[in-house]
Amino acid sequence: MTTRSTPDACTLLDADHRAVKKLFNEYDEMAGSKAKRSIDARRQLAQRICVELTVHTQLEEEIFYPAVRAAIKEQDLLEEAEVEHASAKDLIEQIQSAQEVDEKFDAKVKVLGEYIDHHVKEERNEMFPKARASRLDLVAMRDELQARKEELMAEMEGVAA
Ligand SMILES: [Fe+2]
Ligand SMILES: [Fe+2]
Repeated sequence: MTTRSTPDACTLLDADHRAVKKLFNEYDEMAGSKAKRSIDARRQLAQRICVELTVHTQLEEEIFYPAVRAAIKEQDLLEEAEVEHASAKDLIEQIQSAQEVDEKFDAKVKVLGEYIDHHVKEERNEMFPKARASRLDLVAMRDELQARKEELMAEMEGVAA
């Protein structure tokens, strides 16, 4: 018997949201410094944010969104979410290809954080409650997401190495 407190797909996705929010906060504290150490740390942290978000958005697009799209009638929520992912990916690409870690770079990371804040709010407050009220087996989907996440993380680390 599934209760509301059983960890499900939304619990896993929201844990990702919280983890990346922490990274954005860490970045925010470092932004603006000209010290070499800070430049390296910011590039690394920004790269980590980009990897986490790339894996997260891919998980949603491959598994979560299609299932939710088929199970709820509010299609506009899915349309908006996909447009927001596209904008986020655009910025992620700009951050990953940036040559300099300067004010412009900080601004890109900051704006990406603001996009994601907005996007997460809509998932958390609108999409997740609708998904949880649907016929979807989100507890089973949690395992599927977890397995795919591990696969994608390993792939990303393979590319970075
Ligand atoms: Fe999303
Ligand atoms: Fe999300």
